[in-house]
Amino acid sequence: MKRQVRKAVFPVAGLGTRFLPATKASPKEMLPIVDKPLIQYAVEEAVAAGVDTLVFIIGRTKNAIADHFDKAYELEAELEARSKTELLKVVRSIVPSGVECVYVRQAEALGLGHAVLCARPVVGEEPFAVILADDLIEEDSREGGVMSQMTRYFNKYQCSILGVERVPLAESDKYGIVHPLPFATRLSNVDGIVEKPKPANAPSDLAVVGRYILTSRIFDLLTNIPRGAGNEIQLTDGIAALLSEEQVLAYEFTGRRHDCGSKLGYLVATVEYGLRHPELGEQFRAYLQSCQFGDSTLTASPPISNPSSLRGEVDADPL
Ligand code: G1P
Repeated sequence: MKRQVRKAVFPVAGLGTRFLPATKASPKEMLPIVDKPLIQYAVEEAVAAGVDTLVFIIGRTKNAIADHFDKAYELEAELEARSKTELLKVVRSIVPSGVECVYVRQAEALGLGHAVLCARPVVGEEPFAVILADDLIEEDSREGGVMSQMTRYFNKYQCSILGVERVPLAESDKYGIVHPLPFATRLSNVDGIVEKPKPANAPSDLAVVGRYILTSRIFDLLTNIPRGAGNEIQLTDGIAALLSEEQVLAYEFTGRRHDCGSKLGYLVATVEYGLRHPELGEQFRAYLQSCQFGDSTLTASPPISNPSSLRGEVDADPL
C-alpha cells in the first residue's frame, strides 16, 4: 500500500537570537507577517498538503505557540457578543477541524537533527514532513504550496524528498548543500549533502531551504550520528547517512522564498505580503509610491497624509 504524509514536524525551539529583543519571551516563529505569525503560514501550507497531525518541537518559550493554536474561549465569546463574525471565523479557523496539535518539549537545544528526533514518539514508523517556518515560501498560483508540490512527488516516488533552491555560491555556508544527479524535471537524485560548506567546498549551488519529507529510517540514523557543524546534531548529517541506504530526491520547488530568519528577508516579506493583502494592499501601495527615498531618509508626502487612513481594518470598537 502506498504511504502518505500525514504528520508534519515544526521545530520551533530555536533561540532566535537574530531578532532579540523581539524573541526574548516568544519564539521567532510567532513574528507576524502583516497579521499572521510565521508559524501559521507554515501550518496552513502543511494542512493544504493533507497533513492532519502537527507536531511542534518546543523549547523554552513554549507558551506562545501552544496558546496560538489552542481554543480561545474568552476571545471567541467576546467576538460573538459583539457580532464580529468575520473575526470570529478568522480565530476559529486557525486550526481546521480534524487537525490535531501535539507538543513535544526539546529539553536541550542540541540542533535541528535532535529537534526532529524528539518527534519520534509521535511520528512512529510513518513518513513525515519537516517545515522550518522562518523559510516563508509563497504559494504558487498553479502548483500550490511547496509542501503540496512535494507530497505529490512523495506519492509517486515513495522516498525522502528535500525542497531545494539555487542560491549564490557565496552564500553556501548558510545552508545544507546537495550534490545532485539528474533524475527528472526539477528533480535530482541526492548523491551527497554537506551542512554549510564554504563556497570552495560546496558540491553545487542547490540549497535545502526548510522543507523536507523524510522516511522514519532517519530516526535511527539521527540517534547514532556524532555531533556535526556547530557541535550540534545536524539533520543534514542524518540525511547524508540516509542517502547511503535509500533514495533521496531534491526537488526544485516553484514559489518565491523569503528568508524570515534574517531581518532584511523578514522586512521584504512584510512589504510583499502587505502589498498583496486584500484589505491593505491598495493603500499600502499608494503609501509606498508616495514615499521619496533619499540617501538615508524616507519621507511620505501626500496623498497619504493621515497615517490612520492606512489602517483599512480600523476598528471603531476595539476589544
Ligand atoms: C537549517 C539547516 C540547513 C538548511 C537551513 C534552511 O540551518 O541546518 O541545512 O539549509 O536550515 O533554512 P539554519 O538556518 O537553522 O542554520
